[in-house]
Amino acid sequence: MADVGVKRGAGRGKFITFEGGEGSGKSTQIKMLAQRLEAAGVRNVTTREPGGSPGAEIIRHVLLSGVGKLLGPEAETLLFAAARDDHVQTVILPALNQGTWVLCDRFFDSTRAYQGSLGQVAPGIVNALQRVTIGDLKPDLTLILDVPVEVGMNRAAVRRGSDAADRFESEDMTFHEGLRTAYRKIAADDPNRCVLIDATADADSVGQAVWSAVHGHLAMTTAASPA
Ligand code: TYD
Repeated sequence: MADVGVKRGAGRGKFITFEGGEGSGKSTQIKMLAQRLEAAGVRNVTTREPGGSPGAEIIRHVLLSGVGKLLGPEAETLLFAAARDDHVQTVILPALNQGTWVLCDRFFDSTRAYQGSLGQVAPGIVNALQRVTIGDLKPDLTLILDVPVEVGMNRAAVRRGSDAADRFESEDMTFHEGLRTAYRKIAADDPNRCVLIDATADADSVGQAVWSAVHGHLAMTTAASPA
């Protein structure tokens, strides 16, 4: 297995986030990466947002039920931020400080895309909440899985079967097209942190692209900073 540039247990863990629209295949890819890292001797934990800690999972339930939407865009954004604050303090930071890598299904770029670009919450509010909830904790690498909207929506429909679409799955096609554009802009604006991955192909091919991005990007940053 390729050397990802970090010795087991040495220094702070790496923080990798996965982002993308509905049905982009994040959960499959996170599992595959976790297994690959494990096989390479890199201790890691997988988590998700909204949620990931007991307190944040309660807020997740409120958000995905659609109740947050009734409160209006700003209050809904505050709920995402409250969940993130608990998740960062109780799960993410402790793991990183113990040298464990953290793989997180969605993080603050989701707030930027869903609430900022699409929900039209003012940038000042989004930035202020980012400062409060995550401070200097930027992901070392963000993998943005990119698929055409029809492909993602079909995958999401197959995955949920007869269950009802959740709060965001039930938004219209224009919303999801806008989301894809927002994510592409996030990737273009922060190329040192973000890698845009074409996630249209089969899971194994996408997994290979993810692995190359992790290897290439983190080997580069660990060479630049003694880990
Ligand atoms: P989830 O079922 O985890 O969706 P997915 O499999 O697409 O990740 O639901 C999370 C939803 O919450 C998803 O539609 C994106 C949305 N979300 C936001 O709107 N803002 C945020 O900050 C986060 C973390 C998620």
